Amino acid sequence: MQHDDRPTLPEPDVLSAAHSQRVAEFIRARIREAGGSISFAEYMQHSLYAPGLGYYMAGSSKFGAEGDFVTAPEVSPIFGRVLARQCAEVLSQVRGGSILEYGAGSGKLARDILQALERLDALPERYEILEVSGDLQQRQAALLRAELPGLISRVSWIHAPPESHTGVIIANEVLDALPVERFIRTATGVEQVHVVAEGEAFGITRMPAPQNLSKAVLAIEDELGEGLPAGYVSEISLGLPGWVSTLAGSLKRGLVFLFDYGVTRREYYAHERSGGWLRCHFRHHVHDDPLILPGIQDLTAWVDFNAVAEAAVSTGLEIAGYSAQAQFLLGGGLDVEMREFASWPLKMQLELSGQVKTLTLPAEMGEHFKCMALRRGEISTPSAFNLADRTRTL
Ligand SMILES: C[S@@+](CC[C@H](N)C(=O)[O-])C[C@H]1O[C@@H](n2cnc3c(N)ncnc32)[C@H](O)[C@@H]1O
Repeated sequence: MQHDDRPTLPEPDVLSAAHSQRVAEFIRARIREAGGSISFAEYMQHSLYAPGLGYYMAGSSKFGAEGDFVTAPEVSPIFGRVLARQCAEVLSQVRGGSILEYGAGSGKLARDILQALERLDALPERYEILEVSGDLQQRQAALLRAELPGLISRVSWIHAPPESHTGVIIANEVLDALPVERFIRTATGVEQVHVVAEGEAFGITRMPAPQNLSKAVLAIEDELGEGLPAGYVSEISLGLPGWVSTLAGSLKRGLVFLFDYGVTRREYYAHERSGGWLRCHFRHHVHDDPLILPGIQDLTAWVDFNAVAEAAVSTGLEIAGYSAQAQFLLGGGLDVEMREFASWPLKMQLELSGQVKTLTLPAEMGEHFKCMALRRGEISTPSAFNLADRTRTL
């Protein structure tokens, strides 16, 4: 909530600035319709997903060097190769299993997994993608058509969660893209952060929290066994439990792999973490002012993995493992994959070792990113959790 301290950021180009103006106008119209303010979660929803306008719905680059941030599949194909080994383990235990990926971004993870599964002779009949952004669907299809012409017939795009899925479900950095409410604990109750229009800009105001938000905050306090201090500010995704239980509810037999930056609930709502976990990404600058650059910067919030686990368990899923990304990759066959690169030219080996560092070093993506695996049915624990499993910390 430090929107008064304007971060130093690159200037958006003329087209992006004009696009952001249109998104801002769309949000101002929603604020007017709502009588003067909208909740922060509504603001985040519009900034990211306003039809044809929001950050994920319109045509900016987003991923990789040209965009605003990098995700593990954008860092290196080795992430997908290791994950493919884990998928192969699951697919070998179910008959006719397939893979379903939520929020496939640029399509690189799908490409890397399919290529690796082909090499392992473990290709599923189908690889389905559920992507909310029509623009990204087109980009995924173009990438997969160009780079996997022999496998594209196995890939399809679906528009709603399937009633029944057997095999593997994957979501990399989708949970952090779900809108969050921002709340303030006061001495007497809970307040909800609202966004208001202030001329051409946006500002915040505080409103009494609706019942579902205050109930959710009080439930967190109950579970932590202590109240949050007056003035404490944080986030909660009220949509996450429903999203997870819909995804989990589809799974008839198999395993879900969820990757995201996140922590346990105790860490999430630690007293010293007042201020919350929301981050904004614009052209590889990370800052904490969500009210600027609407529609052209990414807004994301770290994940409370206890909330994920609770929602999954409520649909009858079992937690098959929870670990940091570095441990997952090291336990899951990173070393085997690295051996294959020993015959590559030195320049490429050096590049790969830089990518592996980014994926595994604690100060990079190794520790903040977690993998949570959820299973339904008799499926063995993925070998990626052999090295370490932090399920008991949840
Ligand atoms: C941060 S990006 C991650 C993209 C990709 N998985 C990666 O790792 O590079 C979030 C992705 O999730 C998609 N997304 C957001 N909400 C979604 C939802 N409810 N269902 C499916 N996809 C969603 C976005 O459109 C985008 O493709």
